[in-house]
Amino acid sequence: MRLSGSLSLAVLAFASFTASAQTPAATPVATKSHKPAAQIIAPTPPMGWNSWNFFAGRVTDKDVRGAADQIVATGMKDAGYIYVNIDDTWEGERDASGVLHTNDKFPDMKALADYVHSKGLKIGIYSGPGPKTCARYAASLDHETQDAQLYASWGIDYLKYDLCSFRQEVMAKQAPDDKAEQMRLMVAAYDKMGKALKASGRPIVYSLCQYGWDAPWEWAPALGGNLWRTTGDVQANWMSIYDIINQNAGLAKYAGPGHWNDPDMLEVGNGRLTLAENRAHFSMWAMLAAPLLAGNDLPNMKPEIKAILTNKDVIAIDQDKLGREGTRAYADGEVEFWTRPLSGGAMAIAVLNVGADRFSTHPIHLSLARLGLHGPQKGKDLWTGKDVTLTENQPIELASHDILLVRIGASK
Ligand code: GLA
Repeated sequence: MRLSGSLSLAVLAFASFTASAQTPAATPVATKSHKPAAQIIAPTPPMGWNSWNFFAGRVTDKDVRGAADQIVATGMKDAGYIYVNIDDTWEGERDASGVLHTNDKFPDMKALADYVHSKGLKIGIYSGPGPKTCARYAASLDHETQDAQLYASWGIDYLKYDLCSFRQEVMAKQAPDDKAEQMRLMVAAYDKMGKALKASGRPIVYSLCQYGWDAPWEWAPALGGNLWRTTGDVQANWMSIYDIINQNAGLAKYAGPGHWNDPDMLEVGNGRLTLAENRAHFSMWAMLAAPLLAGNDLPNMKPEIKAILTNKDVIAIDQDKLGREGTRAYADGEVEFWTRPLSGGAMAIAVLNVGADRFSTHPIHLSLARLGLHGPQKGKDLWTGKDVTLTENQPIELASHDILLVRIGASK
């Protein structure tokens, strides 16, 4: 079951953003006691694959093994895709001691985790704070510690924790007319699982999925969240993808090593997205320092889709170790200009034609000054691979929904 468009509207209507101070997640700091600095989880945005966008409720053990095989065979692993994440519908029933078992589609989770690990990859799983997941399978309410230990015993490396039924079954029931109390209950539930994961003793990436309610970017890092969804569910169409890009503008200051805004998983190669849209989607996720979790059918991936997902220059933008997310510098009509500061003084510049029209008769002109740059800028066009020099007032033509993505060296 996917959440419908009505959820996004509900999210907008429901969001009551509280103003609480952001507490940055722990980053490795040299300690005076000369102890080795603690390894931070997700120092760059996690990369991998997730079963939901293509398989949804049909996913099986075999599909997950197939995805792991393909990540290696297609070169995606070499490009940085490491996590193989099982989304909803793996769950079975709890036994008399409360231990959760898998359902028939996943006969042996430990064996599956071992298989994925044997490929040099990592494995992720899915649950939620309510009694049921979004697809109405068993979730973790009142079994948080037990579930975290179970995941650790299987060798799980990543947990996506999805709000779903917690909203109706706990928030709405316990605090029917009190939104602030509902949000407090929600934050406490995420805190509980964050602590349970930590207590499991295994480093597990903690991915919050509660559709951006109550500004998780302000509180998720403090409770161990490595990433948090900023919006409702992505769909494989331009309206949805651009809507998400737009909703992420302004959140850059909350992202950094170990704690990332999550505009949702990739739809590259899904639905009827054009090549330009696939390129723009992938490029903008890189500009947003987003987790890059492919969501397509890897065994049947077309070469042009593989070329997009494995473009190492674009991935390098996403994975830049400075960890500073890009921002929208300005818009000229329906063309947007985004910049992202990169390590070593470099910068990524994205020019995105959001509109339905081709600008062939009305090229827009680049204002380097509005990007804070002065004089011609030498760089590389990351989709053609060619060297380019950007100049003040340079005309740019872009097809509808296409993008120009340029990396310039130390910016002047
Ligand atoms: C929600 C999440 C999706 C997916 C489904 C699974 O809709 O936002 O990403 O995990 O649940 O049921």
